[in-house]
Amino acid sequence: MRRISLSRFLIEEQRNKNVISSDLRLLIEVVARACKSISIAIGKGALADVLGGAGSDNVQGEAQKKLDVISNEILLEANEWGGHLAAMASEEMELPHAIPNRYPKGEYLLLFDPLDGSSNIDVNVSVGTIFSVLQCPEGITPDAQAFLQAGRRQVCAGYAVYGPTTLLVLTLGDGVNIFTLDRELGSFVLTQADVKIPADTREFAINASNARYWEPPVKRYIDELLAGKDGPRGVDFNMRWVASMVADVHRILCRGGIFLYPLDSKTRAQGGKLRLMYEANPMAFIIEQAGGGATTGRTRILDIQPEKLHQRVPVILGSRNEVERVTAYHCA
Ligand code: AHG
Ligand code: MN
Ligand code: MN
Repeated sequence: MRRISLSRFLIEEQRNKNVISSDLRLLIEVVARACKSISIAIGKGALADVLGGAGSDNVQGEAQKKLDVISNEILLEANEWGGHLAAMASEEMELPHAIPNRYPKGEYLLLFDPLDGSSNIDVNVSVGTIFSVLQCPEGITPDAQAFLQAGRRQVCAGYAVYGPTTLLVLTLGDGVNIFTLDRELGSFVLTQADVKIPADTREFAINASNARYWEPPVKRYIDELLAGKDGPRGVDFNMRWVASMVADVHRILCRGGIFLYPLDSKTRAQGGKLRLMYEANPMAFIIEQAGGGATTGRTRILDIQPEKLHQRVPVILGSRNEVERVTAYHCA
């Protein structure tokens, strides 16, 4: 079998399709290397004393795990010196991280959720890293304002899943490819090219403990699914909820499904639960590139003009026909 490493894949994308620049190629290689380091730290778990709380809160007022802090530091450290970035922003930091003056600066802005699903880390369930890449507008200081670009302007997005295997899922706006980490060689190998999500599904993912807070369109949609073959849909649906967005989205990428973290009365004041810039946007870009849909219930996620770096939004994504159905219920 001919093995295509991530490096070879990126070089060929650059050479044959001209879809990426050398700096973007370097950026992706560096992020992939950081994800390998995070994967190693997670794999050591209690042996390296990396489980449990860090004893601090992030800007969102959430208690940080030790691995939230470690993963954030690994990504910052890896990406600082290469000369490919104008600035970085993270779930774990209130303000963007400027590139120190001793290093050259590049044209890209990198955003990340260093560790997604961190409530699962202490119980040995899959977690991940999500990232998004934008171009820094020319002549603009790379402050928080520079990051406030609609998701459709992303030049690259991806995530790593730290599960039974470590995977890197990547889009450059030309389809979605999955790479598996070969732990002996220490390199990511292309294992699934141009992944497509089935338009129909019988599997859904939602935190049903929030049911009493949902809006009527979501309540109606989920009630219809739960009614199964005795209800208007006429077929049974299955439910899954890992509580790591990365793992739930990855399942949907592999075999279809719909994921909902909708607007509800509990999170209405803050706009939703998930964060637009480093959770919803990169996932929406990947899902759309794989043929799926991603909306807030009312608008396409990738069309939202961000107002704040840590803005939250409702998220409904996955198999196209189901996403369209829930979105139609909201607009009815
Ligand atoms: P994070 O660990 O980065 O804060 O993200 C957690 C998110 C997301 O991964 C997941 O889908 C959701 O929160 C889980 O929410 P519940 O606690 O409601 O299950
Ligand atoms: Mn997250
Ligand atoms: Mn996180």
